[in-house]
Amino acid sequence: MQTLNMGFIGAGFVAKTFHVNALAQMRGIELTGVYSKKGSEELAALAGKNQVGECKIFQSIAELCKHCDVISIFAPNPVRIDIMEEIADAIKEGASVKGVVCEKPLGRTISEARRLVELAEEAGVQTFYFENQIYMKAINNALQQLSPQMQAMGPISLARSAEEHAGPHEPWFWDPTQQGGGVLSDMGCHSIAVGWYLLTPWGKPVDYLKPVSVNASTMLLKWGRSKYRKELLQRTGVDYAKTPAEDFCNGSVTFKHPDSGELVNAQFTNSWMYDKLGLRLLMDGIGPGYTLEINTLKSPLEVFIGDAAAEAIVDAETALEKATASRGLLAVQPNETDLYGYLDEMINVRDALQQDKKPLLDWTYGLEITKLVQAAYLSAEKGRVVDLTDEKTLKELESYRSLISQGKGADLLY
Ligand SMILES: NC(=O)c1ccc[n+]([C@@H]2O[C@H](COP(=O)([O-])OP(=O)(O)OC[C@H]3O[C@@H](n4cnc5c(N)ncnc54)[C@H](O)[C@@H]3O)[C@@H](O)[C@H]2O)c1
Repeated sequence: MQTLNMGFIGAGFVAKTFHVNALAQMRGIELTGVYSKKGSEELAALAGKNQVGECKIFQSIAELCKHCDVISIFAPNPVRIDIMEEIADAIKEGASVKGVVCEKPLGRTISEARRLVELAEEAGVQTFYFENQIYMKAINNALQQLSPQMQAMGPISLARSAEEHAGPHEPWFWDPTQQGGGVLSDMGCHSIAVGWYLLTPWGKPVDYLKPVSVNASTMLLKWGRSKYRKELLQRTGVDYAKTPAEDFCNGSVTFKHPDSGELVNAQFTNSWMYDKLGLRLLMDGIGPGYTLEINTLKSPLEVFIGDAAAEAIVDAETALEKATASRGLLAVQPNETDLYGYLDEMINVRDALQQDKKPLLDWTYGLEITKLVQAAYLSAEKGRVVDLTDEKTLKELESYRSLISQGKGADLLY
């Protein structure tokens, strides 16, 4: 099979921490180029150290596209459309890019996500929506193992998914006008997607279950308090007195089985105020007579660092993404890239492009997740269940932009 040349756009946290690491654990894709506002040198050096390819630094997207089979957009949410327009132009000019990857969330609004889908269709490229959690081996092994039970007893009827940590690393994530909202936009998209997937009978397409309704709430539980608001302003320059975003959300999406008409439910909980060890993913799926449960903070590896030894600590995040403590009894995940699904999502890119297959998750799917996230914001804003079978509501969602993402969330959150 021909090795694919991949180019990264963006060289920040996710590119360096997870995607280079994923490429180091597989064959078939070489990282041959990077274009980024900042961090290109560091990323290229990391690529060399991990032997994932001779990563050249490019000064424009057009030049990067000339040298790559597949482009991965790992840049912040507000710059996606401009970047995709440049990729589409490069393809028009003759670059032979076959596929474009985009990290979650696909859009900050439905109209942004729809624009990306259109641009990709016009450019004639295969699209990959990166929702790593759906590729988690723990989830897929559990679903496969339980498929006889699903057949015999009936499908999973309740899924609960949570992603929580103490808050993002870069200022733009905290600014709702840049990021598209708060934790619901940033991490609710993961948990809503995972809930949908957990409820989907094993082997059926990811959009097999039809979304019926969404009920959600958005709250500011920690970072709106004056002490933490000041700390946030000092650290990030974002003022939650003026433009707050939610640091906690919960809700549920009801889906319908198209054949039986049965209703099933996916609950989601997300927070940026989870002050425990670090990132925690929690998922469970409950069917008649059987259950699956995942908690990524449970590791077979524990490390203990006593006070006397704490001076020697270099980087707490070596143990765990978003780690908040560097002494005491620490949970350590030795391979977070694999655990959280980043490896398998990259393998899916390789297999789809090399074998000319449809990817598991494309941008049309990313658009559906954007719809559910925006419906959740609408539900929280209006304080009511949003009916996704109602044509008028679907039309309203097409041009909807949440108050929080417009910087007008104070009345709702305080
Ligand atoms: N799947 C996950 O769990 C996960 C985790 C983290 C981030 N993400 C997503 O990945 C994306 C990037 O997040 P991050 O944490 O790496 O952010 P980051 O801020 O750490 O890195 C962003 C990178 O993009 C570069 N950049 C900014 N504007 C650019 C532009 N116009 N053109 C080219 N490069 C530009 C920056 O210089 C930086 O190198 C976000 O959309 C985020 O939602 C996903």
